[in-house]
Amino acid sequence: MKKETLTAEFIRHTSLESLPQEDLDLIALAKEQLDIAYAPYSNFHVGAAIALANGEKVTGCNQENASYPLCTCGEHNALVSAGNGHPGVSINTLAIVARNPKQPVTQPVTPCGACRQIIAEFEVRQDAPIRLLLSGETGDIYEFDSVKGLLPLSFDRTFL
Ligand code: THU
Repeated sequence: MKKETLTAEFIRHTSLESLPQEDLDLIALAKEQLDIAYAPYSNFHVGAAIALANGEKVTGCNQENASYPLCTCGEHNALVSAGNGHPGVSINTLAIVARNPKQPVTQPVTPCGACRQIIAEFEVRQDAPIRLLLSGETGDIYEFDSVKGLLPLSFDRTFL
């Protein structure tokens, strides 16, 4: 028997000054999505914005349903839009932000497990990592250079 350790590195931006303008612009674009998120049940609004390798941007926000399991996440919807509208174009960066009218979101929103798996599949299909920028309404911003940091030992096509 041997005890193994999983580690993950990420950057914690404690101020906006350590982020380049293009990242701040992408986060701002994701924040615009918060106003159009459809989240009448949870009131938890999630916005996402994607920077494609060709410079184009794609956005998404969560879309809820009275049949709760049918709710779709903001980052999931943005990724589907990228896959549908820009086939074959790599995703460089995905920014995810959240807002909760009931209480301020003061720490970065981290993608749910299902979305981590979906992001992982996009990394596989483009054979390149996707940078993640995770933000709340205020507070620190987390930067991951790949979803691998959030989803170690992930299930992928090598098992099939
Ligand atoms: N949600 C997202 O959009 N992304 C996540 O990664 C976490 C959760 C949404 C789903 C649902 O509409 C609301 O947040 C509350 O779970």
